[in-house]
Amino acid sequence: MSKILAIESSCDETAAAIIENEHIILSNVVATQIDVHKQYGGVIPEIASRIHIENISMVLDECLNKANLKMSDIDAIAFTQGPGLIGSLHVGVQAAKTLAWMYDKPLVPVHHIAGHIYANRLVTELKFPLMALVVSGGHTELVYMENEWSFEVLGTTQDDAIGEAFDKVGRVLGLPYPGGVYIDKMSKQGKNIYKLPKPKPEKELDFSFSGLKSGVLQFIKRMERNNETFLPEDLACSFQETAITTLLERADIALTKYPVKQFVLAGGVAANSCLRNHVLNDLQKKHPSVECIIPPLSCCTDNAAMIGVAGSVAYRYGVRGEYDLSAKPGFDLESSTR
Ligand code: KG4
Ligand code: ZN
Repeated sequence: MSKILAIESSCDETAAAIIENEHIILSNVVATQIDVHKQYGGVIPEIASRIHIENISMVLDECLNKANLKMSDIDAIAFTQGPGLIGSLHVGVQAAKTLAWMYDKPLVPVHHIAGHIYANRLVTELKFPLMALVVSGGHTELVYMENEWSFEVLGTTQDDAIGEAFDKVGRVLGLPYPGGVYIDKMSKQGKNIYKLPKPKPEKELDFSFSGLKSGVLQFIKRMERNNETFLPEDLACSFQETAITTLLERADIALTKYPVKQFVLAGGVAANSCLRNHVLNDLQKKHPSVECIIPPLSCCTDNAAMIGVAGSVAYRYGVRGEYDLSAKPGFDLESSTR
């Protein structure tokens, strides 16, 4: 039974967790910086890394205290090596290296997206082959896992990530950061009545969201020019439905082409209520032989428990990092398993 201490600091959450036996959370601490970045309408990388430095020791201390454990009880230290903001990543990487060196523990580098996918292991056994739809502030990817701890990226975004599009449209609608959360809430009061552009990239499993984002902007400008009024709730709802339908269409194609046992959602946008409903009600009905899993809300946005689960599997597979490693802002998922 392994006990893994995990550290996540790739963007604007300073997080630490301890995971036992690959899926049991002994403690899970997240210090979010959202309130600071809200003032600027988005994450300011320089500020993010400074706050990580201020918070990391306290977060680690609280994490061990909550689990009532000492460093001597820990088998290995997992951490997000990338992708993410370089300055933010560095703080988690240095903390992990320092602890590993001080307490003579193995270092286990983890890819952030592997963490998001393995967050589902906190609620259920994963069955392979598996298809993951990864939707976050920085990623929109369909990932095929033929076996445990193997990743094949089938499709990715050609421009904006879905979460990025939600956040940019949120800003245009005058909503606070992170826009995705507020668009989701606002859409519940609106209707899907506006037809917005839905770009289709050449590769059938790829995504594109910048045309949809510009479509929202052009719609607002057109309304202003013509002195017409509209309900922002209706525009938010129309944007959300269009964006989420795009995801579901690609997921449907992927599940038709690749016979898998499970389909899992992953990443911050997996918290979106419209996406969750469509996956459980529509996608699941279309593919009855595939078990559709959605992670609990608390595990969708960035946290260290997910890094701890992926790190525990990586530890079992013998993934180890040396003391001279550094952060990898452009870390490749497919080669991260070695
Ligand atoms: O996974 P995450 O915490 O960070 C990255 O790895 O990027 O994802 C953050 C993203 C943000 O773009 C945020 O707006 C989006 O997840 N998000 C949502 C919702 N909750 C968070 N997007 C749509 N609906 C939500 N309920
Ligand atoms: Zn993330």
